[in-house]
Amino acid sequence: MGIWLVAAAEAYPPSVFGPASPTAGALWSLFLMVLAITGAIFALVGGFTVYSVIRFRSRPGDEGQEAPQVYGSNRLELAWTVLPLLIVFVIFLVVTRTVVSMRSAPPPSGTLLVRVIGHQWWWDFEYPGYHFPTANEMHVPVSTPQRPQAVLLQLESADVVHSFWVAQLAGKTDLIPGRVNTMSFVPAKVGVYHGQCSEYCGMGHSMMLILVIVEPQEDFQRWCAEQAKPAVQDPAQAQGAHLFFSKTCFNCHQIRGTLAAGNVGPDLTHLMSRQTIGAGAAANTPQNLTAWVSNPQAVKPGCHMPDLKLGPRDVRSLVSYLETLR
Ligand code: CUA
Repeated sequence: MGIWLVAAAEAYPPSVFGPASPTAGALWSLFLMVLAITGAIFALVGGFTVYSVIRFRSRPGDEGQEAPQVYGSNRLELAWTVLPLLIVFVIFLVVTRTVVSMRSAPPPSGTLLVRVIGHQWWWDFEYPGYHFPTANEMHVPVSTPQRPQAVLLQLESADVVHSFWVAQLAGKTDLIPGRVNTMSFVPAKVGVYHGQCSEYCGMGHSMMLILVIVEPQEDFQRWCAEQAKPAVQDPAQAQGAHLFFSKTCFNCHQIRGTLAAGNVGPDLTHLMSRQTIGAGAAANTPQNLTAWVSNPQAVKPGCHMPDLKLGPRDVRSLVSYLETLR
């Protein structure tokens, strides 16, 4: 089963092209500026090289002759030392100004705080203002001129160094064990944005995907209200629920409203509201969920969820139960 890449028709592939926040826009302008400078240098050097190759090529009668040899030229040496220094200095100044303006602006009032905890190999998103956790898919309200909205991420790690990168929204920021990093952005365009852990963190690194769903304020509030609810227990799924507790699933996972309160793996209270399983390893379909419960390693090699060696009947019961977690 390959990595599941496109979440929805309107999803933007991870790319620095097409910024959807002022922060990403500033990075995009920086990129264009550096590209213009280095492009001009490339054209100049390439042009001179091609000119010299043609202009001073070997002609009949040149055999045995040596071109005039020039030893030392203070003017030339000064030029090729000072000019690059100046160019690097200008780039340094512009980059510093952009980074400082990105980092130093205090979060405006009404900023949405999301605590992001990186795990091998999934993302724990906690909404302190709303008192619920979710995983791998972050919902944020769009910023509009009538209702400006900033998002502040508080980045932490449960194990090793990870890096949070959603190219259309902001630059990369590392999640470092024992440290709290922050990053902020203003989501300016409704859409589904893909991101990826961008610091090698072990076997499951390539399957540590992020979805950021930027949606209208009302949709976000509705989503929050749904997520904050405890799971509804369907008596018809008692067999699957029993398996969840007897097969030790509850040691690692939380289902709010039940005794399952583990925080080693993702919160499953509203599992079915998510588009993917295994942090983007597969689309959240009944078939994939069945494959995942049967043998997680086959879907996401190296993942920390063990193969519980369940028989097909138990897998069916468990999946039916999980499917009620809407
Ligand atoms: Cu987490 Cu790479």
